[in-house]
Amino acid sequence: MNNHQWGKIAVGLVIFVVLITFPFWYGKGKTSPPPQLSLDTPAIAQLKEKRCVEDTSFMRGNHMKLLNVWRDEAVREGHRLYTAKDGRTFEKSLSGACLKCHSNKEQFCDRCHNYLGAKPSCFSCHNVPGEVKK
Ligand code: HEC
Ligand code: HEC
Ligand code: HEC
Repeated sequence: MNNHQWGKIAVGLVIFVVLITFPFWYGKGKTSPPPQLSLDTPAIAQLKEKRCVEDTSFMRGNHMKLLNVWRDEAVREGHRLYTAKDGRTFEKSLSGACLKCHSNKEQFCDRCHNYLGAKPSCFSCHNVPGEVKK
């Protein structure tokens, strides 16, 4: 191989490296900010302790699993009351528990789901209290 051919390979290599690392350097400083989750609802304002059903970190990672368990237990077994680790009880219900406190679904649930690209398909059947079905 002569110098000219080596030059072409070098240029090709540089372009290749730039392309495969593109996603890493392109977005620098421009990543979208994490969503602002609002806890500003009448039901949460009334709580003495600003606590979710379980620990915040547990809820963040596991609310989908918790909801699935709730659904199965409520619908299949007819057990409709959930006792949290600290002894408080909640109705095993999407509208009757989660959305009672988090009644601002758009500023809370939706903001996080939209940010992460999650699309729970529950609300074609389950009511969002206060939302008028179109
Ligand atoms: C096709 C319609 C439909 C979809 C979609 C649906 N559900 Fe349900 N769900 C129902 C029905 C009907 C019941 C029974 C209502 C009852 O017995 O109170 C129910 C009951 C439940 C219950 C227990 C009672 C209550 O009122 O909440 C939970 C929890 C629940 N579903 C969670 C979910 C979750 C989470 C999703 C999305 C991942 C979902 N559901 C999607 C129809 C649906
Ligand atoms: C009694 C009122 C109440 C109920 C019922 C409730 N939440 Fe919460 N939730 C809160 C409060 C208050 C916080 C904030 C806790 C904190 O700041 O540490 C919270 C936090 C969360 C978080 C964490 C948000 C973050 O900062 O990352 C998630 C996720 C969540 N809730 C989902 C749910 C779901 C899903 C349900 C139903 C299974 C539910 N919540 C039921 C009051 C409630
Ligand atoms: C802190 C961010 C965050 C908040 C706040 C949040 N979620 Fe989620 N949610 C997620 C993530 C992450 C997933 C998992 C997405 C996946 O697996 O694709 C998820 C998934 C779900 C699922 C399962 C979807 C499916 O199709 O199986 C349900 C149901 C759900 N969320 C309900 C809620 C409800 C109701 C609220 C508000 C009360 C809420 N979430 C608030 C982050 C959040």
